[in-house]
Amino acid sequence: MDLTTLRYDVRDRIAHVTINRPDKLNALNAEAKRELMEVISAIQADQGVDVVVITGAGEKAFVAGADIAELAALDRQSGEEFSAGGQKVFDRIEESSKPVIAAVNGYALGGGCELALACHVRIASENARFGQPEVQLGIIPGYGGTQRLARLVGRGRAMEMILGGAPIGAAEAHRIGLVNAVVPRDELLKTAHALARRIASNGQAAVRIAVRAINATEQTTLSDGLTKEAELFGECCETLDFKEGVAAFLEKRKPQFQGK
Ligand code: COA
Repeated sequence: MDLTTLRYDVRDRIAHVTINRPDKLNALNAEAKRELMEVISAIQADQGVDVVVITGAGEKAFVAGADIAELAALDRQSGEEFSAGGQKVFDRIEESSKPVIAAVNGYALGGGCELALACHVRIASENARFGQPEVQLGIIPGYGGTQRLARLVGRGRAMEMILGGAPIGAAEAHRIGLVNAVVPRDELLKTAHALARRIASNGQAAVRIAVRAINATEQTTLSDGLTKEAELFGECCETLDFKEGVAAFLEKRKPQFQGK
């Protein structure tokens, strides 16, 4: 892949995706969104990858938002398309059956906060700051923030962050459940990689089905969700990983999963 705004490498079956525009605090321009879509789609098809870690280049920012330079010319029609286009990229991340971990290494503002929200797990460094400052520009979050933030931290806190526009620090983000853990800056990638390795050590067929089952909670009532869970549980029972996982436990040995 020929990438100009992202770095991408695979180690130990973990794909590391780095948004790489540090001079613009990794603001997501059209090219970065296009490349993100391309990379996430390629990862889905890559048999050598089980888990993804997304982070930002440089010391200051994860992603400081959509590229504000690209906002100025938007009108009603192009604004709607701009929002829908960004949503599509982040939906692709959320719907990825391979788990995606956001390693938030600094500012996660606007589209950066929304990118983190679309990931399955968020780990932050102590210097991370999260915010939806769009109202300060006269717009609202348009890459899923009005929907995903409320679902993750509750309507009241989402209202405060989106209507007030003030960013919060990593400790507060942890307190309200916006991030799973906060670690020192120099331990961030190591921590994210270790979690990714832990996930990768499990039966990947089950991991992928579990992501689908948990994602289904967003779209269904509890009763429909439970029906879906039972259906996906049955799907797991057909996999080789299931046969191997149970056999290995009963034989008191480590399982040899094949991801099938
Ligand atoms: N879009 C485009 N460029 C951005 C950007 C964004 N979202 N965020 C930062 N940049 C650029 C700045 O314009 C600056 O570029 P320049 O050096 O060519 O002038 C560079 O990144 C560094 O940013 P700067 O503002 O000088 O850094 P800072 O440390 O003083 O402030 C922030 C950091 C994050 C507080 C500030 O950059 C900011 O408020 N960014 C916008 C955040 C935002 O509103 N995001 C939501 C957009 S919808």
